[in-house]
Amino acid sequence: MNLRTVLSFGLLFSSVAIYAQHINIPVETRSNALVLQADAKKNLNTIYFGKKLANASEYDQVAAQYKQTSEYTGVLSSPYTPAGSKSLLEPAIAVTHADGNNSLDLRYESHKVEKISDDVSLLSIVLKDPVYDFQVTLYYKSYFKDDVVEQWSVIRHREKGNVVLQKFASGSIYLKADGFWLNQYHGDWAKEMQPEESKITHGIKTLDTKLGTRANLFQPSVFMVSLNKPATEDEGTVLYGALEYSGNFRTDLELDYQNNLKVISGINNFASPYSLKPNEEFTTPAFLYTLSNTGKGDASRNLHNWARNYKILDGKGNRLTLLNNWEATYFDFNEGKLFELLKDTKKLGVDLFLLDDGWFANKYPRNGDVAGLGDWEENKTKLPNGVASLVKEAGNNGVKFGIWIEPEMVNPKSNLYEKHPDWVIKQPKREEHYFRNQLVLDLANPKVQDFVFGVVDDLFTKNPELAYIKWDCNAVIYNAYSSYLGNQNHFYIEYMRGLYKVLERIRAKYPSVPMMLCSGGGGRVDYAALKYFTEFWPSDNTDPIERIFIQWEYSYFYPAITSSNHVTDWGKQPIKFRTDVAMMGKLGFDIVVSHLKENDLKYCQEAIKNYNTLKPVIWHGDQYRLANPREGSVASMLYVNPEKSSAVMFSYLVNNRYDEGSKLPVRLKGLDSGKKYSIKEINLYPDTKSAIDASKIYTGDFLMKVGFNPVVNSGRTSVVLQIEEIK
Ligand code: GLA
Repeated sequence: MNLRTVLSFGLLFSSVAIYAQHINIPVETRSNALVLQADAKKNLNTIYFGKKLANASEYDQVAAQYKQTSEYTGVLSSPYTPAGSKSLLEPAIAVTHADGNNSLDLRYESHKVEKISDDVSLLSIVLKDPVYDFQVTLYYKSYFKDDVVEQWSVIRHREKGNVVLQKFASGSIYLKADGFWLNQYHGDWAKEMQPEESKITHGIKTLDTKLGTRANLFQPSVFMVSLNKPATEDEGTVLYGALEYSGNFRTDLELDYQNNLKVISGINNFASPYSLKPNEEFTTPAFLYTLSNTGKGDASRNLHNWARNYKILDGKGNRLTLLNNWEATYFDFNEGKLFELLKDTKKLGVDLFLLDDGWFANKYPRNGDVAGLGDWEENKTKLPNGVASLVKEAGNNGVKFGIWIEPEMVNPKSNLYEKHPDWVIKQPKREEHYFRNQLVLDLANPKVQDFVFGVVDDLFTKNPELAYIKWDCNAVIYNAYSSYLGNQNHFYIEYMRGLYKVLERIRAKYPSVPMMLCSGGGGRVDYAALKYFTEFWPSDNTDPIERIFIQWEYSYFYPAITSSNHVTDWGKQPIKFRTDVAMMGKLGFDIVVSHLKENDLKYCQEAIKNYNTLKPVIWHGDQYRLANPREGSVASMLYVNPEKSSAVMFSYLVNNRYDEGSKLPVRLKGLDSGKKYSIKEINLYPDTKSAIDASKIYTGDFLMKVGFNPVVNSGRTSVVLQIEEIK
């Protein structure tokens, strides 16, 4: 044997040995497994994502069962596809190296798993470019009980100059199925969360926003993908996804030539090539997903549990019911008028009075939405004794006090704009363009961050008893430009970093005060923001019929405790209907209490008392969507406490045609089939009799197999049933 033969024999041998040494990296949760594999060449691919197998050694057998067309690249199922080397499809990451080269290859280097708790594990996988000193660490934080995974990446390099990140997704997932159906959302002001379902065709479908802030106005990042067939509430395989980010996001869903689906999600790279310095770390936001093999209901309950346990500020805690003065007064109020409303807060029976827009600015008083935004001192004409006197008066009335701010924004007609034109986002050479007569402040600038933090800090310093903040955000970003930043490509990212820095500072100093995230309606909610906010405002549209639909769609992704629902004068429904709908989340009122008819007031007072008994079940229980308003004339929603001993069911007539109503029983869910329950109608309008016989007793078995008829009809358009275990 000559030397050459020995060498080639040896090489062959060693490559076979390495081949046999592929490494499987599983991410396991209660029901599912995502299995990644580093092959002999250290390419990292997805070999399985679905229901967990009983025998882990069988994951290696999965690939052979798929006889799809050729895999030319060896990286088709990469969990983080780099651009410019072998990959032929949409990348998760694309870069221009310090030397101008556009290619990137990422090979497996190492991985480790950190057990954070019994429930939570953190897997990190280091990938390196074999040619450039460039690396990405992929993170998978898995929440075992809830089948939830958060995925993000950290990008760094040690090249001789800056590397430009052209695309920098948080992560991706690769799915195999016999067809995929996307459920996505679109909207506008007062029309949030409009669902659309379609079969995914070949090519790329992109869900994204380029609005900068109030970023979800036209499209939120939440979506669902059903596998094999459209999932229903209780059947089918469905993936819920969302980006935990409040700025520009981009999710690409690519159905490839083999009929597999890759979902890549991250910050939108639109107008944002990012120059990364040597040794600087770029951490992407988390891409969140949960996979259910038992339909949409379990997916949402898993997500709700996860959110309350791990994400939402005070997710397991309490919330305050409130009376808001926005629609009662708009900008037209003074101290006397507010004192009257404060009295009504107590009379109504809610916890807090919330003073809305219009309380500030003197040079250009805030008497409409055209002036004053940015000048956060009390308007002397309306409030000669300041906010302090209102807080005190609230205390005298035995209620708490909260206040509206919109600290990221400025009206051109304001002292702030005149003093600090360089703090405002606008193009230096172009005419200004306004959204609701206002512009956005440049949160990339640390001085603006200090200012925005100061707005909140001043309010609390002067009024330590202030109990609630409604944080609004009514404009999108036009003419994106920061006079502070050297590199305009970093603008959108630095804006969000600035916002999160401010929120961090606020929460460091005021860790638990409840704050509502509002954005001219639902233009902003996401799971990054909900780390700082206790609740959000789903829509300015409070017409209860519309709200049934809007709240229904939000309920797939966000638990009821986060949904601020106010009773207003929108819509033609009676006060009972409006209040019942608002009770399916965090209840508030925005009406003139003194204008209520006697029985209407009596009704509200009684309903609030009922709500105070039921709120633990609504906020912390399991939510079941029983009858879909898009599929029939009746909408029905159920909340069950974890012990399955107490539940509340809300049912509504959503179709006014002749003789519509609940013809059939509505099947309940989530009860204990062995337990016995009584069903009592509550929230009855004064002097009306219930059509429900409260003395009857039913087993959970009956209620879940046969169901129960709430007797919804044109004379009973809104029915609330309290279901209690009988021992
Ligand atoms: C936005 C909010 C409303 C109200 C107004 C005040 O539209 O969504 O609830 O606070 O601003 O200007």
